[in-house]
Amino acid sequence: MSCCCPHSNSANRFFSFFAGRYRRRFEKKGFEPSQKQLLQGLEKAGYKDARILEIGSGVGHLHQTLLEQGAESATGIDLASKMICEAQKWADERGLADRTTYIEGDFMEITEAVMDADVTVLDKVVCCYPDADGLVHKSLDRTNRVYALTYPRNRWYVRMVMGMTAWVMKIMRSDFRSYVHDPELIERWISDAGFNKVYQNNNLVWLTQVYVKP
Ligand SMILES: C[S@@+](CC[C@H](N)C(=O)[O-])C[C@H]1O[C@@H](n2cnc3c(N)ncnc32)[C@H](O)[C@@H]1O
Repeated sequence: MSCCCPHSNSANRFFSFFAGRYRRRFEKKGFEPSQKQLLQGLEKAGYKDARILEIGSGVGHLHQTLLEQGAESATGIDLASKMICEAQKWADERGLADRTTYIEGDFMEITEAVMDADVTVLDKVVCCYPDADGLVHKSLDRTNRVYALTYPRNRWYVRMVMGMTAWVMKIMRSDFRSYVHDPELIERWISDAGFNKVYQNNNLVWLTQVYVKP
């Protein structure tokens, strides 16, 4: 499955609606537990002086924090226009405008235009996309050293919530869906691309993994 246009348009509307709330939540509460785990994993893998690529970068607080802690530059890609606007605004406010590049679009449709990165991050993005195989492989292709991601655990209660969300989306006539992709398959795709897992952690819902290419 490579054309996800109806899905992307609906995802744009869905996530644009929540962009302001994402920023306010972070300003009030800071990183979520799964993001703290992701940061721990990135610390272990190393990101100093790295060029970061964050796919599904939301309002930007994760890669902007990495920049403040020693990364060199960051590209944030998100298909939700308002997420990109918030991220740009926030980068300006944090004095990071000259080290950040923002691209609005579906990563799968613009991969050719995306530069390679030392560190690629997908924080709660694989679950927003129907074609996990394509998304993981194309993002791995852009990664030189560290591949970090958080995605849902394959548990009955996670599948149940996603099923209920799909039902609500259908009633709202939205094509956006979230997905529980098979973690074993995802791990295999990443290992087959030559990466070794250096960090894994989870909470009730989210699984966080960080891989390094030797
Ligand atoms: C659940 S949100 C997470 C945002 C951010 N990573 C965070 O944790 O705060 C998922 C984000 O990924 C974006 N997204 C989903 N699929 C995408 C794709 N194929 N290309 C670019 N962005 C995508 C959505 O627009 C949304 O902003």
